[in-house]
Amino acid sequence: MSKSTITYGLIGGGKGAFISGVHRRAAEFDGRARLAAGCFSRDFNNTLATGAELGLARERLYASFDELAAKEAKRPDKIDFVIIVTPNNAHFPAAKVALEHGLHVVCDKPLTLTVEEAEELERLARKQGLLFCVTYLNPGYPIIKHARELVRGGEIGRIRMVMGEYAQGWLADLVEKTGLKVAWRTDPAQSGVSCSVGDVGSHLENLVSYVTGLKIEELCARLDIFGEGRKLDTNASILVRYQDGAAGNYWTSQIAIGHDNDLRIRVFGTKGTIDWRQEEPNHLKLTYLNGPTQYLSKGSGYLSPAGLKYNRTPPGHPDGTYEAFANIYAAFLNALERVKSGERVDPAELEYPDVAEGVAGMRFIHKCVESSRAGRWVKL
Ligand SMILES: NC(=O)c1ccc[n+]([C@@H]2O[C@H](COP(=O)([O-])OP(=O)(O)OC[C@H]3O[C@@H](n4cnc5c(N)ncnc54)[C@H](O)[C@@H]3O)[C@@H](O)[C@H]2O)c1
Repeated sequence: MSKSTITYGLIGGGKGAFISGVHRRAAEFDGRARLAAGCFSRDFNNTLATGAELGLARERLYASFDELAAKEAKRPDKIDFVIIVTPNNAHFPAAKVALEHGLHVVCDKPLTLTVEEAEELERLARKQGLLFCVTYLNPGYPIIKHARELVRGGEIGRIRMVMGEYAQGWLADLVEKTGLKVAWRTDPAQSGVSCSVGDVGSHLENLVSYVTGLKIEELCARLDIFGEGRKLDTNASILVRYQDGAAGNYWTSQIAIGHDNDLRIRVFGTKGTIDWRQEEPNHLKLTYLNGPTQYLSKGSGYLSPAGLKYNRTPPGHPDGTYEAFANIYAAFLNALERVKSGERVDPAELEYPDVAEGVAGMRFIHKCVESSRAGRWVKL
C-alpha cells in the first residue's frame, strides 16, 4: 500500500461497474494517492462487498454519498478528495455535498444534467477554494499536448476547418433490453437530455477546444434517435462556426457498426494539417502545405516540453487509456499537493480539465439539443 498522505473516497464503482476500475488504478498509478473510503453503490450490500474486496475499513464504507461527505469531513484522517463515477444524474448532488464539506472533487463527464447545475458547482468550488477536475480523458495523451503546442505555436497557421468524429457501434442493437448495465445512457432520467452528444460528443467538444483553443460562436445540430422506442439521440451531425470564422463539422454516433471507440480530429490550417485518432493514440499525423506527411511518435526527443512532460515510456512503447487517465490524475495531484502545502494555485496553471470545461461541455450539449429541436442555428 502506498505511503502517500493523499487519500480519496470513491462514489460509484460497485462490483460490475465499468470505468471506476480505470479511475482507481489511474489515481494510484504513481503511488501518490490511496483509496480510503467508499460509497460504491445505492445498494449498501454491494458497497460492503466491494469495500471488503478492496481492503477498506468497514467504518469507512457508507450507505450514501451524503453520509460519506458528512462523516469523512469530521475525521482527523479525512479523505482529501472524492472521485465521482456514478451515472450522470448523481454527479451534481454528490459533487455539491462533497464541496460543501470541504472535499476536493474529481468527477466524470458529462458534468451534470443541466447547465445551471454545472454553473452552481463552478461557483461553489471557487467560493470554497477547492479543486475540481472533470475527467475528460483526451488531454491526458502526451501527443495531444504536443498537438496543442503545434497549434499555439502557429505551425499549421490560421485554422480554417475542424473535422471531429466520435463513432461507436455498441447501441446499433437495443442492448438496453438485454440488461446491459451501462445502457443507462439511453435513459433520460440517468443520462440527461442527450445520449450520443452527452456521452461522446462532450469528449469531442473538449478535445477540439483543448487542441485548438477555438471558441464556438454558433452551431446547427441534427440529432437522430435511432433504435425503436428510444427517447435520446444515438447519432448527431453538428455544424459549427467558431468565433474567428473557422468552420467545424462534428459527427457523434453510437450506432456506427464497425466502430469501437473511434474518436478522430483533423484540424486544417492555412499552413498545415494535424490528424489524430484515439485508437492509435501514440502517433500524430502532421502535414505541412506542399510537404510530405510526417508521423510524430509520442516520447520522441523532437516533441515540445509539454508533449514530453507526462510521457512515461520511450517511443514505440505504447501508452493507452490507463496512462492518459493517470496523467489527468497526476496533474490533479500536483495541484492538490501544492494546495495542501498552503500554496495558491491559479486556475490558469491547471494542467487537467477544470470545472469550467465541465460547464462548457454542458452548454455544448444543451445547445445541440436546442438547435435540433428548433431546426436552426443557435448562438452559444
Ligand atoms: N471519461 C471517460 O472516458 C469515461 C468513460 C466511461 C464512462 N464515463 C462516465 O463515468 C460515469 C460512470 O459510467 P460507467 O459506465 O462506469 O457506469 P456504470 O453503470 O458501469 O457504473 C456506475 C456505478 O455507480 C453506482 N451508483 C449509481 N448511483 C449511485 C449513487 N447514488 N451512489 C453511489 N453509487 C452509485 C452504480 O452502482 C455503479 O457501480 C458516467 O458519468 C460516464 O459518462 C467516462
